[in-house]
Amino acid sequence: MTTDKPIRVGVVGLRRGEGFARGAGPHLGMQLVALCDIWEERLLPLGKALNVATYTDYDRFLERDIDAVILANYFHQHAPLAIKALAAGKHVMSETSACFTLKQGVELIEAVEKSDRIYMFAENYPYMVFNQEMRRLYQAGVVGEFRYGEGEYVHPMAAEEANRLAPGVNHWRNWLPATYYNTHSLAPVMYITDTWPVRVNGFVIARDWQDEQYNRTAKRNDQASVIMVRMDNGAMVKLLQVGLRGHGVWVRIHGNRGLMENLRWGNTAMLRVRREPFDKEPGEPVEQIYTPEFPVHHQEATRAGHGGGDFFMDYHFAEAIRRHEPPYLDVYRGVAMSIVGILAYRSALDGSNTVVVPDFRDKAVRAQYANDDWSPDPTTHRDGDPWPSVLGPLEPTTEGLAYAREVWREMGYKGE
Ligand SMILES: NC(=O)c1ccc[n+]([C@@H]2O[C@H](COP(=O)([O-])OP(=O)(O)OC[C@H]3O[C@@H](n4cnc5c(N)ncnc54)[C@H](O)[C@@H]3O)[C@@H](O)[C@H]2O)c1
Repeated sequence: MTTDKPIRVGVVGLRRGEGFARGAGPHLGMQLVALCDIWEERLLPLGKALNVATYTDYDRFLERDIDAVILANYFHQHAPLAIKALAAGKHVMSETSACFTLKQGVELIEAVEKSDRIYMFAENYPYMVFNQEMRRLYQAGVVGEFRYGEGEYVHPMAAEEANRLAPGVNHWRNWLPATYYNTHSLAPVMYITDTWPVRVNGFVIARDWQDEQYNRTAKRNDQASVIMVRMDNGAMVKLLQVGLRGHGVWVRIHGNRGLMENLRWGNTAMLRVRREPFDKEPGEPVEQIYTPEFPVHHQEATRAGHGGGDFFMDYHFAEAIRRHEPPYLDVYRGVAMSIVGILAYRSALDGSNTVVVPDFRDKAVRAQYANDDWSPDPTTHRDGDPWPSVLGPLEPTTEGLAYAREVWREMGYKGE
C-alpha cells in the first residue's frame, strides 16, 4: 500500500484496543511499537505475544518514539489523554466518546486546532458495509434529499457478560446514562447524509427492576434511550440505544425519492432500496434487496470485527496521517456526535424539552460552553451534576453486586 516509512503506533487500553493493536500492521503501512494499560495482567501477556514494549504509565508511554496513539481507554476519559498526546506531537485516534462534557469538547477541538497532528474519531459503525453502500447511493442521488432516518444500536447482555465487561463498582458501564452511548446509532446517519445535529429531545427508559439480567449486575443506570434529533437540513432522526431485548444494529434513511435500510432479519448486512413506481425510471425495480460490497479492500474488511468497520478505522487513520489531511471523522464530527448523548440526557432530565446542539465549528459558539463540565460520573458528583439514572442515585441489588464480584474475582480483577 505504501513505500513510506511505517507509522509507529502505540495503543492505550487493551480490551477493545487489542483489535486495533493487531490491525495496525504493515498492510496499512503501520508498525505497532508499544502498548499501554494500567492493568498489568492484561498488558504483559499481550506485549509478549505481539513482541512490543509495554507501559503502565501513560506519560512514560508518550515519551517513546511513537507517531500515532490509539486511545481505547475508559469511555469517559478519552479527551484528556488525547489532548496530552497531541501536545506531545502524536497523531490521535480516539474511541467513543470523544468528550465526556461540553467543556472537554471545547478543549479537545482547541487542542487539535493548535496542533499540526491528525485527530480521528474511531466511530466504526459508519464503515459497516451497508452504511458505506448507503452513503454511496445517497451521494449518487438515488433516494433524493434526506427527510427522516433511524439509527439503532440495541445490545442486551446476559449478566455474566455484562459483569465481565464492567470490572469494578465504578466501571463506566455500571453507571453510564442511557443516552451517552449514542454514537453507534447517530454516526451512520451523519455519514450517509452529511448532515449535522442541531437540536435534541431525549427520552430515557428507566431502570427496570424486573429485568433479571440487570438485577444480577452492579449496574445503577437505566435500560435504554430514544433520542429525537433535528438535523441541519430539517430532517428528523430517531435514535434508539443500548439495553433492550432484541439485539440489532439497524439504519433507515428516507429520502424524498426513496428509502434505504439494512435488513432487520437474516443477513443484516443486506440492503433494501425502495423507490415508488412514480419515482423510479421505467424498467427499474421498485424494490431491490442485495448484498453490498465494501468500496475498497473488501477481503481484508470482511475479516475484521464489527461488520468490517474495524478495518476502516486503522485504514482511514493511516491514510489521513499520510496525506496530512483530517479524516472524515474529524474532531468536529466526533465532538458533535458525542455531545448529542450528553445534551439528550439534559433534555431527558428536563421533561424531554428541546436542547440546542451548539455548533462547535464556530469559535464564538463554543466559547459559551468552555466551562460546562456537567457530568454524571458518580465518583466526582457535585451539586448540580446529574445522577447516572433518571430515577436518582441508585444502588445495585445485593445479589447483583455479589455476583458481579464473583465474576470480577474469576477474571483476576483486584479492585473494588
Ligand atoms: N467502537 C466499538 O465498536 C467499541 C467496542 C467496544 C468498546 N469500545 C470503546 O472502547 C473503549 C474501551 O472499552 P472496553 O470495552 O475496551 O472496556 P474498558 O473500558 O473496560 O477497557 C479500558 C481499558 O483501558 C485501560 N485503561 C483505563 N485507563 C487507562 C489509562 N489511564 N492508561 C492506560 N490504560 C488505561 C483499562 O485498564 C482497560 O484495560 C470505550 O471507550 C468503549 O466505548 C468501542
